[in-house]
Amino acid sequence: MNEQLTIALSKGRIYKDTLPLLEAANIIPQEDPSKSRKLIIPTNHDNVRLLIVRATDAPTYVAHGAADIGVAGKDVLMEAPSDNIYELLDLEIAKCKLMVAGPEVEKPHGHRLKIATKYIKSAQAYYAQKGEQVDLIKLYGSMEIAPLIDLADRIVDLVDTGNTLKANGLVPMEHIAEISSRMIVNQHAYKTKFNQINEIVQQFKSVIEK
Ligand code: ADP
Ligand code: PRP
Ligand code: MG
Repeated sequence: MNEQLTIALSKGRIYKDTLPLLEAANIIPQEDPSKSRKLIIPTNHDNVRLLIVRATDAPTYVAHGAADIGVAGKDVLMEAPSDNIYELLDLEIAKCKLMVAGPEVEKPHGHRLKIATKYIKSAQAYYAQKGEQVDLIKLYGSMEIAPLIDLADRIVDLVDTGNTLKANGLVPMEHIAEISSRMIVNQHAYKTKFNQINEIVQQFKSVIEK
């Protein structure tokens, strides 16, 4: 008998890009989270449901077993504890880069570099590896504003087309990491629901490898 299977993912680009993978695994959501206010979405299988969560919360649901499977950006996974989670697959979706960015012409400053970012752990590791002492300022979004109003000298943020940087008069400066979204699985669920989860992994793989 098939057990209850819960999949956590965020709406927006992750949902949109995961949909074809779910379809390949014959998991068809019964509502569209961009239109519905429902946060628990049933599928064509009575025992399979989707949780629509904040992108940064997906690893938490999976770590606690509230979801068996999740989809999360590598940027998010690098900031989150990895206990109780297997990162099983690179889904090769929602691809972008984690970068240092700043104004093209930087103002001279007599202090340690101030870096505004949502990615404190990644930024800390990056500057530690460079042997550079910086002050990190935690923000939750719209990082691009920080250098424009002298909250920080530079930012560490995601870059895809570069349009957001450009629109705010900033330029990419240093590459930190390539980012894509990953399928994550609760370690206990991977044992107890192995056949069900492995079936999904194989179907996802068949799409990714195309
Ligand atoms: P949030 O509301 O947390 O910003 P998003 O849907 O924008 O949620 O981002 C989810 C994931 O998609 C991020 O963790 C990152 O891995 C990836 N991502 C974010 N911005 C971009 C982008 N501009 N292009 C491609 N992938 C992105
Ligand atoms: C992301 C990211 C950057 C932007 C980069 O923001 O935080 O601001 O995309 O993409 P680009 O290089 O193609 O412009 P997103 O669109 O997710 O907005 P939000 O997270 O602030 O809602
Ligand atoms: Mg975003």
